Amino acid sequence: MSGLRRPLIAGNWKMNGLRADGEARARELARRAGGADAPPCDWVLCPPAPLLPVVAAATTGSPIGIGGQDCHPEASGAHTGDVAAAMLADAGCRWVIVGHSERRADHGESDALVAAKAQAAHAAGLVAIVCVGETEAERDDGRAHAVVARQIAGSLPRGASAANTVIAYEPVWAIGTGRTPTPDDVQAMHAHIRACVPAGIDAGALRILYGGSVKPGNAAQLLRLPDIDGALVGGASLAVEDFWAIGEATR
Ligand code: 13P
Repeated sequence: MSGLRRPLIAGNWKMNGLRADGEARARELARRAGGADAPPCDWVLCPPAPLLPVVAAATTGSPIGIGGQDCHPEASGAHTGDVAAAMLADAGCRWVIVGHSERRADHGESDALVAAKAQAAHAAGLVAIVCVGETEAERDDGRAHAVVARQIAGSLPRGASAANTVIAYEPVWAIGTGRTPTPDDVQAMHAHIRACVPAGIDAGALRILYGGSVKPGNAAQLLRLPDIDGALVGGASLAVEDFWAIGEATR
């Protein structure tokens, strides 16, 4: 971490949980994050869309922000099953994840579509958390940096800034596997990302998160790296103690 950028700890609940456990988890995190001795980081929870109202209510008045896990590039219309960025904002969100590798894989999302979603997020006043990351084959072929540079070039819309955009580097092979890149590899990739963001973005102010098997046991080691500004946490965000411990690692 660098003193220039406040750390951000974001929990991506993915397609997990029903109202009762989502509410209990959000309520307990809100209580802790509102405490005088809370760690010096920003917190975001990204629950499944049907849980947004309950999580918003449980975190009202706390420092915890709420985010969607995806949005449609258009503002409204005949798109069955999709959610518009303005609907997320209306539900209390200030954030939205776009271009997660699970959506890129499950729904064939291209860089251009991800950029359009980020643009829609910005138009609705949301901060877009834009995900990038290479597959294992791409890393083995020595193409990880080139792949991520291409994703960055294609997935950030015009108008992206350090204020309305966060980048999450999530190597596909590290998600849900318990495997992580070495600290040297993560730092090298984050420095590479900072070097290749478009000229309109203040790279020194841009927050770049690491995601992929972040746990209490490896969080401090990752978060102490100079170009890592926080974490996008999947599985470990479903347990209050684990997610809180990851936030504590920002001290
Ligand atoms: P895990 O923390 O479960 O590996 O998931 C990471 C992720 O995909 C967050 O968006």
